[in-house]
This record gives sequence, C-alpha cells and structure tokens, in this order.
Amino acid sequence: MESVLSHVGAGFFNGMIPRGVLGTHFKASSFVGVDGGRPRRVVLVKAEAVSINPDIRKSEEKVVDSVVVTELSKPLTPYCRCWRSGTFPLCDGSHVKHNKATGDNVGPLLLKK
Ligand code: FES
Repeated sequence: MESVLSHVGAGFFNGMIPRGVLGTHFKASSFVGVDGGRPRRVVLVKAEAVSINPDIRKSEEKVVDSVVVTELSKPLTPYCRCWRSGTFPLCDGSHVKHNKATGDNVGPLLLKK
C-alpha cells in the first residue's frame, strides 16, 4: 500500500476536471491503505480517451468529406464540427444542445461562397 500512496500526491486531482479534457472519461476508485503506519483513504483516478464521433458513418475507416466551395447553393453554408448533427456533414444546430449538456463551446465551420 505504501507504493500506491506515493503516486497520490497533493493536488493530483482535487475534484476538478481541467479545461480541455472534455471527451475524456474519468474512473475513480477508492480504498483504505496504510501511510506511515496509519490507515488512510486513497482515491485513484484514471483518465481514458473516448471517441469524439458517437455514431456517424461508423462503418467507414475514416470519415472524410470534400466540398467545392464555388458549387455551394447558398452564400453561407454551416458544416458540423461537433459530430452530433443529424444532417452531417451539414450543421443542424445540434451543437447547441451538446454545448448546454457538456459545457463545451463547439460550433460549425461556415463556408462562404
Ligand atoms: S450540429 Fe454540429 S456544429 Fe452544429
């Protein structure tokens, strides 16, 4: 138990999720260890990267789209960057719900003709 305690330094986690790690899952477990002969609760936190694409064209090895900007039908066309659009690769506004649910700040790429 002493060796595990040595990996849990002050400020290691502090219950805060740092900015820039949305899309990362944290798993926490705790147990009682021994530190200097005294029992002490130990919390281990493990970060795991997760997929950014929840369900768009998952059968493809890589999702790639190309656009000929001069052939766009509208002067301004929004393209999804949040991977939540029901009309992917076009933005359908789903990023608003995603941002409210997660605290994220993603939005579309606007292509101008
Ligand atoms: S729906 Fe994804 S950026 Fe708007």
